[in-house]
Parts: sequence; C-alpha cells; structure tokens
Amino acid sequence: MSARIVVTGTDTDVGKTVFAAGLTGLLRASYWKPVQAGLGGETDSETVRRLGDVSPGRILPETWRLNTPASPHHAAAIDGVVIVPEDLTVPNVDGPLIIEGAGGVLVPLTRTTTFADVFARWKLAVVLCARTRLGAINHTLLSLEALRARSVPVLGVAFIGDAEPETESIIRELGGTKILGRLPVLDPLSPATLRQAFNTAFQPCDFLTAQSSD
Ligand SMILES: Nc1ncnc2c1ncn2[C@@H]1O[C@H](COP(=O)(O)OP(=O)(O)O)[C@@H](O)[C@H]1O
Ligand SMILES: [Mg+2]
Repeated sequence: MSARIVVTGTDTDVGKTVFAAGLTGLLRASYWKPVQAGLGGETDSETVRRLGDVSPGRILPETWRLNTPASPHHAAAIDGVVIVPEDLTVPNVDGPLIIEGAGGVLVPLTRTTTFADVFARWKLAVVLCARTRLGAINHTLLSLEALRARSVPVLGVAFIGDAEPETESIIRELGGTKILGRLPVLDPLSPATLRQAFNTAFQPCDFLTAQSSD
C-alpha cells in the first residue's frame, strides 16, 4: 500500500494547502480534502490542482462541501447538513494520497468529534504544518501534545516562512519531533516556484515511508 499522509497545521491560514499542493506534486500523489468549509473563492482542491499541477483525476471529490467559511461543525449546522465523522473513510487510490484537514488539529467536525479524533481512527501519519513567525513554538508544541494524546503518529513538522533556526531547534527538542523541512515565503507563488522550492526543501523519502496501517 502506498503512503497515506494527513496534512494538518497549527491553525488555519498557515499554508497547509500550499504545502499539500507541493507535496502532491512532489510525490505524484492524489489529494483529498474530506471537508471543505467555504465555497466562496477557490476551494483547497482547486488550489492544489492549480499550484501542484495535479491532473483533475487525482483530485478526489470532497465528502462534505459546506458554504460557510467556519468551523465544520458550525458550517454544517448553517447548511442544515449532518456530518457523520464515522463515514469519513480513506479513499482507495493507486499511489500516494495526501489528505488535508480543516484548520488546526482540534477543529470540531461535530459537537463531539474533532479532526484529531478522525486522524486517530485512521491511524495515518500526520505532517504538522507550522509557521516560523512569533507564536509558532507554543502552537506547534500544543498541537503535538494533542496529537500524541490520541496516539496519532506524527511524521514531523513542516515549517512555512522565513528561516528561524532557534524556533526550529527548540521545537525539535521539546516536541521530540522530526523537522521535515521549511518552505520559504514564495513571491511569486506559482506552480514553478513551488515545485522548485519543494524539491530543495523536502525529501520524498521522508514521506514515502508513511504507510497505511492496514
Ligand atoms: N510558502 C508560501 N509562500 C507564499 N504564500 C504562501 C505560502 N504558503 C501559504 N501562502 C499563502 O498564505 C495563505 C494561506 O495559505 P493556505 O495554504 O491556504 O493555508 P491553510 O490551508 O493552512 O488555510 C494563502 O493566501 C497562500 O497563498
Ligand atoms: Mg487549506
């Protein structure tokens, strides 16, 4: 079975989708966003398709598409939709699969279930995306604790932003985690600049060892 990798983050807007686009391109993977909350602009699936230069067939359909850019538990209630977290089963695809959660690890899907609970049930390895800017140490260590409290396997931390070696080293030490690499701020952010930066910043073998638990 090929690698199945969950991309999560310390927060919304940290760069999970850009990272997932780069990783999907690097591994020639498929991409799945189980719950998309907010359909106003470009969806995460559309961004990954564009930025990762991913063929449409490798973008799997979202299970729930919710109109409001809010926590899924709330966005679903506004739409009158009932999310059943147990129904979220990892799709069967050939080759690697990148799965992007919504927001951070403790974002609720329902009033009783968070994304971290779903990751724990899947038993898939998680990449935690974190910014390098001020506040990153606390958010990253808290997220690692929340994942570990549920026995979610953590592949490592992927940083996004300017170089902050001290931030990276203290997170590695206190978090007891691997640092997978750092994606710099790209200007312009395009399929070409992302591919080039990703090839330099990350090693495919760090991700391809993440096997499905079955
Ligand atoms: N490495 C990067 N270089 C430049 N802009 C970035 C980078 N990573 C993220 N961004 C920008 O930051 C914003 C949030 O990124 P996004 O990947 O959508 O975050 P998330 O999926 O965590 O909510 C977007 O406007 C995106 O284009
Ligand atoms: Mg996203």
